[in-house]
Formats: sequence, structure tokens, C-alpha cells
Amino acid sequence: MSDTLNFGFIGAGKISGYSASSVNKHPHARVAAAHDLSPERLRELCEGNNIPTAYATAEELLADKSIDAVYIAVPNKFHAPLSIQALEAGKHVILDKPFALNLKEAEQVAAAAKKSGKIFTLGMNQRFAPDSQKVRSLVADGVLGEVYHAKAYWQRREGIPRLGTWFGNKELAGAGCLYDIGVHVLDLCLYVLNNFEPVSVYGATYTKFGNRGLGEGGWGLSERSNIEFNVDDFATALIKFKNGCTVALDTTWACHMKDGNRNGVELFGTEAGATTHPAQIFRRNPVRESYEVIEDIRAKVAFPHGDRFSNFINHLRGEEDLCVSIEQALAVQKILDAIAESSATGKEVVIG
Ligand SMILES: NC(=O)c1ccc[n+]([C@@H]2O[C@H](COP(=O)([O-])OP(=O)(O)OC[C@H]3O[C@@H](n4cnc5c(N)ncnc54)[C@H](O)[C@@H]3O)[C@@H](O)[C@H]2O)c1
Repeated sequence: MSDTLNFGFIGAGKISGYSASSVNKHPHARVAAAHDLSPERLRELCEGNNIPTAYATAEELLADKSIDAVYIAVPNKFHAPLSIQALEAGKHVILDKPFALNLKEAEQVAAAAKKSGKIFTLGMNQRFAPDSQKVRSLVADGVLGEVYHAKAYWQRREGIPRLGTWFGNKELAGAGCLYDIGVHVLDLCLYVLNNFEPVSVYGATYTKFGNRGLGEGGWGLSERSNIEFNVDDFATALIKFKNGCTVALDTTWACHMKDGNRNGVELFGTEAGATTHPAQIFRRNPVRESYEVIEDIRAKVAFPHGDRFSNFINHLRGEEDLCVSIEQALAVQKILDAIAESSATGKEVVIG
């Protein structure tokens, strides 16, 4: 491997612009090629980020021997098939969330990764925020005592991605706010708890705004079409873990509430509570006999660069542990599947 890792980007939508600048900022990586089904968006991504080669098909990009690693950011339906194709072509893969449309697909990707011997990761950017890293260290160091409950929430009042695009369609997206933003805070919550052993899930999902043409926030570059909005714009779940801890997940693309947006993870421990957005600790100070809120938290930040691509690149260079393992990503997908099943059946799903 040369001193510079060559990335190929599959997908030139809204998130890929941010991702390209992250890769190009790294001293040992660059985006060398890209592909998108839309020639116009492909050109814009390449011109805006000095990407020298534009490929009309994924096959051509994957056949390019100079490409070491592939970033995939396309509608969710294509996550698993393109990941498998890239792994089989001998590329390392960083896939944007969510993992897949369901656990079965995600397991197929995991099997392909194992067979190929290449590195596969899910680019869960929220894990890298310094505040989240600090709270994870507090939990690991026992500062909160036994953490017996957590809330993971990302709720937007009017934040549905561009209506009339793939984001709102079950066949293309798999799910709505659950797969778009719920997955971020669910993953973050399990990560700060360092607990990926769910045993049961009760969940409910609702479609109340997007189907009426309401609640748009506007994210996304895909063209509007007459595509049906038939995914959740509100989802809630109670997840129980092997050690007895519970996690309450609330995620909405649109709902009536006071704030325009709120997101974070809140932890309840026997010795203290904590939040990630921002990092704060809540506890009784026995010396001053008062209740205190600690904002200036000094705790270990495992990835000071704060960036998912830096973690992936540094890992490929043998310099850093990979933050998001396939096993962890599979555990999160298992919960997402169980939320869908529970919502459909009205019953708790046991996933031991
Ligand atoms: N990590 C994050 O914070 C974050 C944020 C936004 C989006 N995402 C994820 O990134 C992915 C893309 O989202 P976006 O916001 O960029 O969407 P977008 O609608 O802006 O862009 C999607 C792009 O994919 C292209 N495309 C569609 N099917 C394709 C295929 N089979 N092959 C190649 N290109 C194809 C479209 O032409 C379009 O340019 C989604 O999976 C989304 O969940 C992650």
C-alpha cells in the first residue's frame, strides 16, 4: 500500500460533499474517484473536491486497481448490495448509516467482509464527538456507578428530508426517522454504555406528517418525484439489555413540540447522571452538601481527531483501533429489526 490511500466514493449526494472534505483533509488519503447515477451531481462532487476521475458505473470504479477503499452513501436499499460488491472487488469499505434494510442483509455484508479479509466499518460520526467520548470514559471509569437506564433521543419538529425523494419510501429507505436519525442516537447510546447485548424490545412507529405533505426540513440532493411517503416519521422503543439496563429511544422527523430540534443521550446511574449534548454530570456533592452540575469534564477522548474517516484511515494504516465493529453494527441492526416487528405485531420482541 502506498503512503496515500485512494478512496472511491459511491454516491455524490448531500452527505458525500462533507465526507469528501474529511477524507481530503487527511494527510495520507484522498478521494481519487467517484460514481453516482446522476451525472450532474457526480460532476459537482468531483469539481468541488478535486476528484480526478468520475466513473459512470460502480463496476468501473470497483475495477480500478488504484482504489484502496470505498465510501458508500446512497439510498439505503443499495447499502448491502454495493458493500458486498465492493468487498468482493477487494476494497476496504466505509458505509454510511444505516447498515442495511434488515439484519439478514447486514449479516450477508458481515459474511462478505469476513470472506474478503478486507476492513468494513459503518461510519457512525456521532461517536466521535469529544463530548460523547468523554461521557463514554466516565461510564467506563465507574463515575456514574451502575447505569440502569438511558434515554436516546433525536427529535425534530419539522425535519423530514426533502419530500418526494427516496428518504420517505419504505422500499428504498427501509424506514424513516428511525433509520435516518434514530439510528445515530441508538448507536451512540450503546457505545457510551459499551453495551451491545439487547434481550428484548417493545417499539411503536407512526406516520403522521410526511404522508400529509407536512414537516419537511429539506435535507438531501435527490430530485423530487411522485414517490410515496410511507415510512415512520415518529418512532419510540424500550430496549432491555442482558445486564438489566433499559434504554428508551425517541426519534421524530416531525411532531408538535416546543423545540425545533433536540438530540442526545441521557444516562441515569446510581452515583451520578450525565448527558452527551453537551457533556455534563449531575450528582450530589457530599463535601459541599449540594447538588451539582459539572460542565468542565476532564475525561479521556479516545479519538482526538473527532472524525470517522480519520479513524478508518488510521486503522487501515495500522495506527488506531477501529471504533465501529461489525458485531456492534449488527447488534444495532437487530434492535432496529425488532422495533419494526414489535410495531407491526404490537408485542414485545425477545432477541436474546
Ligand atoms: N452520517 C450522517 O450523518 C448522514 C447524514 C446524511 C445522510 N447519510 C446517509 O448517506 C446516504 C446518502 O444520503 P444523502 O443525504 O447524501 O442523500 P441524497 O439524496 O442527497 O443523495 C443520494 C445520492 O445517491 C445517488 N444514487 C442513488 N442510487 C444510487 C446507486 N444505486 N448508485 C449510485 N448512486 C446512487 C443519487 O443519485 C444521489 O446523488 C444515506 O444512506 C443516508 O442515510 C448519513
